[in-house]
Amino acid sequence: MILEYSTERGDAPEGLAPLLEATARACVEAEGLTVPVYASLQLIGDEEIHVVNRETRGVDRPTDVLSFPTVSYPQGTARDNERRVRREYDPEMGASCLGDILVSLPRARAQAEEYGHTLKRELCYLTAHAMFHLMGYDHETEEERACMRAMEEKALRLLAPREEEMLMDDQALYDLACSMQDRSYCPYSNFHVSAALLCEDGRVFTGVNIENSSYGATICAERAAVCAAVTQGARRFTKIAIVGSTADAWPCGICRQVLAEFAAPGMEVIVGTAGKPWRKALLRDLLPEYFGPGDLGVEV
Ligand code: THU
Repeated sequence: MILEYSTERGDAPEGLAPLLEATARACVEAEGLTVPVYASLQLIGDEEIHVVNRETRGVDRPTDVLSFPTVSYPQGTARDNERRVRREYDPEMGASCLGDILVSLPRARAQAEEYGHTLKRELCYLTAHAMFHLMGYDHETEEERACMRAMEEKALRLLAPREEEMLMDDQALYDLACSMQDRSYCPYSNFHVSAALLCEDGRVFTGVNIENSSYGATICAERAAVCAAVTQGARRFTKIAIVGSTADAWPCGICRQVLAEFAAPGMEVIVGTAGKPWRKALLRDLLPEYFGPGDLGVEV
């Protein structure tokens, strides 16, 4: 799930893009949709949403959120209509377009105050509400409303632990990597390596070295974590913590190259030995002048 977030409002809170994308992803997961999808979300002002509300729905007042689905669902919701969703496939995005969302920031702020929660919480809720509209839910009848509400709650429950992960600091990431030491499969070297990879959207994936009796088939912990992340749709990494059992496990050359493929600018590498303090470096210092996707005209 890709959420194209944009705003021209100077009063929008920092760090919203990954949070709202994580919310949208939780909605798609709650729905059980397997087709890769994307949507756009724009944070605007009351006057702007008022104009759109009047022009598109004939309702002459501002509102909190508007959604414009691309797909029509004659029966059921998105998961019952995967073929229709697939028809909206955009090769440039590598995903199908679900539609567009507009959110009024002043409205969200006022509602957050009214309900006694944070602006970010309200924006997550409005995003979830709009995402389910894009996936064919509505609230015309009481039954529909209850069904949509249950889905919103399911999505926000999925989001909760990921929000905690977004707060993951260096020590927490390192501790997580340490906690995975026992999972390492290393009967040949007996050198346990475990890694925890933090992605830009807040998700964290772990990996361990997996050795093989044909030694060359061994996979390092960092690459195991990268495989887990990319398999789940994460493609931008901000930090990795790598722990060795008896020595600092600086990433090998192959792992540096593999990390660089998906590294966000300024990606950090935390390295340590289990039970000892860690050190931190920038990936670009560990792999200067590397050959990357851009050299082949590819944007990751
Ligand atoms: N190893 C890693 O997992 N990551 C690295 O970057 C360095 C090496 C593992 C591979 C092998 O299982 C063991 O450490 C000894 O080379």
